Amino acid sequence: MSGDLSVGIHDLSFSTTQFVLTHQTLAAHNGTDVGKYHAGIGQRAMSVPAADEDIVTMAAAAAAPIVARHGADRIRTIVFATETSVDQAKAAGIHVHSLLGMPSATRVVELKQACYGGTAALQFAVGLIHRDPSQQVLVIAADVSKYELDNPGEATQGAAAVAMLVGADPALVRIEEPSGVFTADIMDFWRPNYRATALVDGRESITAYLQAVQGAWKDYTEQGGRALGEFSAFCYHQPFTKMAYKAHRHLLQVCGQEIDEERIAREIGLTTSYNAEIGNSYTAAVYLGLAALLDQADDLTGRAVGFLSYGSGSVAEFFGGTVVPGYRERLRSESHRAAISRRQPITYARYRELHEHAFPVDGGHHPVPTETTGPYRLAALSGHKRIYEPRQSGLAHR
Ligand code: HMG
Repeated sequence: MSGDLSVGIHDLSFSTTQFVLTHQTLAAHNGTDVGKYHAGIGQRAMSVPAADEDIVTMAAAAAAPIVARHGADRIRTIVFATETSVDQAKAAGIHVHSLLGMPSATRVVELKQACYGGTAALQFAVGLIHRDPSQQVLVIAADVSKYELDNPGEATQGAAAVAMLVGADPALVRIEEPSGVFTADIMDFWRPNYRATALVDGRESITAYLQAVQGAWKDYTEQGGRALGEFSAFCYHQPFTKMAYKAHRHLLQVCGQEIDEERIAREIGLTTSYNAEIGNSYTAAVYLGLAALLDQADDLTGRAVGFLSYGSGSVAEFFGGTVVPGYRERLRSESHRAAISRRQPITYARYRELHEHAFPVDGGHHPVPTETTGPYRLAALSGHKRIYEPRQSGLAHR
C-alpha cells in the first residue's frame, strides 16, 4: 500500500422504498405485543418496495446525487454488493451505470457474501485507489430483505441502498488499516437459488454473529489495531437494532470491560435511528448506521469510528475509520431524513400483496404499474429482460 495516502469514503447517499409497514400495523395483524418489536428487537417500521422498485432502482436513486455532485469522469469502477441479485449472470450495477449515463470506460462487477458484501466492496475499492489514487470507485450496497410471512424473521425485513464514492483524500471518513477478519462455515442464514425468501435459524444466527465479533476483534488486535477505548463510536451490522447492543456488550465483555449501559448507548445509540425505521437492508445496514451517526452526532472531526460488518454463513470484518475535518459540510442529512419520511404507510393487506408479488416466468411482456415516486422504476419484465427507466424524463441526471 502506498505510504501515507489517505483513502476512504468521499461521499455517501442512501435511498429506500416507496412504502413502509409500521410494526404497529404488523403487531395488530398477528396479535404480537408491539413492545416485542419496539423494545425487544428495536424496530419501528420496515421499508417495503413497490412492485416497480428493486435493488437497481434504489441503487440508482442512491448513486444519482453522488454522480451529480462529483461527475463520473474519475469513476472507473462500480462495485455493487447485494444478496438479492436480480440476475444470476449480469451485474445489477450495469443497469445503474446505464440509468446514470456513465461512461463506457468503466468496469462494473457484483459481489456477494450475505450482509458482509458491502464491506468487501469498500475494502476492494480502497485497494484499487491505492493502486491509482487518481481514480474513484462507486461502491453500492443494496438489498431487499425478505422472509416468509409469519416467520420470526418477518419483523426484521427492510430494504435500502447505500452508495459511497471511495477515493483518495476523502471528505468524510478515512478507512484505516489494519482490518480484523473472520470466517466460519455456518448455516445460520442462507437462501438457495430457487427461493425468494431466506431461511434462518434465528437463535443460531445471533450466536454466530457474536462469535464472529469476537473472532474479527481478536484478529484486529493481533494485526496491531487500535485499543477499544480509542473509538468514539461503533457501527455494527444491524439486522435489527437491538443486535448492535448485543454485539457491543459482547465486545466489551471479550475485552474484559464493565458492561456500562450508558457507555453502550453513547457509543452506538446514534447509529441505530435509520435502521430502526428501515429494517434490515443486509449489505447496506452497517453503512446506514454510519450515515445516521454522521448526520446526528456532535462534531466527530478527528474521531475514530469502529466498524463491524457481519454476513451470515459467515464472514466478519472489524476495521477503523477516522472522521475527516470539514465532513459536516458534505453530509446529505436532509435528503436522508426525507428518504425515510417520504415513504407512504400501507395496510397489512397491501404489504401481503406486495410480499407475494412475483413475475410470471413465461417470457411474455409484463408491464408493472407505476407506483413509485422515486426517480427510477422497473417498467416491465419483457422477454425475460428487466426494463428500467427514469420515472419521468429529466429526472435521471438531477
Ligand atoms: P423471536 O424468536 O420471535 O423473538 O425473533 P424473541 O422471542 O427472541 O424476542 C426478541 C426479543 O424481544 C427478546 O429479547 C425478548 O425478550 C424481547 P432478548 O432476549 O433478545 O434481549 N421481547 C419483548 N420485549 C419487550 N416487550 C415484549 C417482548 N416480547 C419479547 N412484549 C429473532 C427474534 C432474532 C430470532 C428473529 O427476529 C429472526 O429470526 N430474525 C432473523 C435473523 C436475524 O436477524 N439474525 C441476526 C443475526 S444474523 C445477521 O445479522 C445476518 C443477517 O442480516 C443476514 C445476512 O447476513 O445476510 C440476518
